[in-house]
Amino acid sequence: MTDAPAGARRLLIRDLEQLATPAGGGAPLRGHELGAVDVVEGAYVLCAGGRIESVGRMRDLHGLDGDVEELDGEGLCAIPGLVDCHTHACFAGDRVEEFSLRSAGAGYEELHAAGGGILSTVRATRAAGAEGLRAALRRHRGWMLRAGTTTFEAKSGYGLDRETELASLRAISDAGGVPTYLGAHAVPPEADSADEYLEWLLSEVLPEAAELAEAADVFVERGAFDVTQARRYLGEARRRGLALRLHADQFTEAGGIELAIELGARSVDHLEATGDGGVRALGRSDVIAVLLPASALFLGRPMPPARLLVDAGAVIALATDFNPGSAFCESLPLVASLACTQLRLGPAEALAACTVNAAHVLDRADRKGRLAAGYDADVVLIDAPDWRYLSYHLGGELVAAVIQGGDEVWRR
Ligand code: NIG
Ligand code: FE
Repeated sequence: MTDAPAGARRLLIRDLEQLATPAGGGAPLRGHELGAVDVVEGAYVLCAGGRIESVGRMRDLHGLDGDVEELDGEGLCAIPGLVDCHTHACFAGDRVEEFSLRSAGAGYEELHAAGGGILSTVRATRAAGAEGLRAALRRHRGWMLRAGTTTFEAKSGYGLDRETELASLRAISDAGGVPTYLGAHAVPPEADSADEYLEWLLSEVLPEAAELAEAADVFVERGAFDVTQARRYLGEARRRGLALRLHADQFTEAGGIELAIELGARSVDHLEATGDGGVRALGRSDVIAVLLPASALFLGRPMPPARLLVDAGAVIALATDFNPGSAFCESLPLVASLACTQLRLGPAEALAACTVNAAHVLDRADRKGRLAAGYDADVVLIDAPDWRYLSYHLGGELVAAVIQGGDEVWRR
């Protein structure tokens, strides 16, 4: 129990069918701990002053003093507010034309090489202006919230010029997100080469971006940046105090995992092309493997080797990769379903991977990702008799209500 400040507003979520939360108090969870979940039948959650005051069984809840607002949880299960640790939600426009071309056989990398793909979103994002971009992000943020995401990371990377990159990072913080500087996402059309662009961003954008962002990210791939360029970029980012993240092994194994381990990066994300050597290396390291099955599904690509990673002892997290080109999907419940149906994870592993472990990617696992006393009162109520519906109800109308910081922010 924590002591709520005197007079703090209290909310009792009562008569829940179940409450489910990753077991224990540590982070990250790996190996068999990833699959350990505490389930309370006939439960309540008591929130006070934006934090969880206590959780437990209804039958152990005795008269509460003072003013307490109540929310009826009958027929519902409570899980921690979901944490989306990898999104590109700060974009303008869409790529529905490209989607349609891809459905007729055009390749994602081929469209990118022809100046479409990421660069078409760069054009739309630059053209939107700071206010247009904020409005687009607010809209995307609303979609994520209604899918149960109470904490989200979002990357820049669709500006690639100084003004739009910094505007993106400011818009993300102002929308309550965790900003990541993805200056090294693609080479913009005005640059003569990747090297020239990188040197420019390191001197002209990174110093200010590092004041706004918590992490830096780079796309290591043919047609984007190679390991030498990524090492230079991430080295400078680390010098300025940013956590390091990499998009790696999406299409080819290009050395991103080895670089992530060498630099002590926070995470290496995607891994659809990762082979046995990469799995073994991650199994021996603390770099978090962020898996994005909605992106693999959306592009018709192989799924990342999630089961092998977990069994090798690697730390994994799940995220949507929400973006207009490779994963137009804001739903972590759908990702949890894909984790169980495509990645051979169990419902408890999927839950931990998009709550406590995702919070660990964002360095917030001490207050996000669990339903326990002292944690932030971020709670998702799902319309289900059993918490495993999170992954069982494929694409269903699952989320009944979202509580963020002790306030009900959305109800179906
Ligand atoms: O994580 N692969 C690089 N970046 C994004 C996609 C960006 C886009 O297609 O707009 C990703 O898949
Ligand atoms: Fe991504």
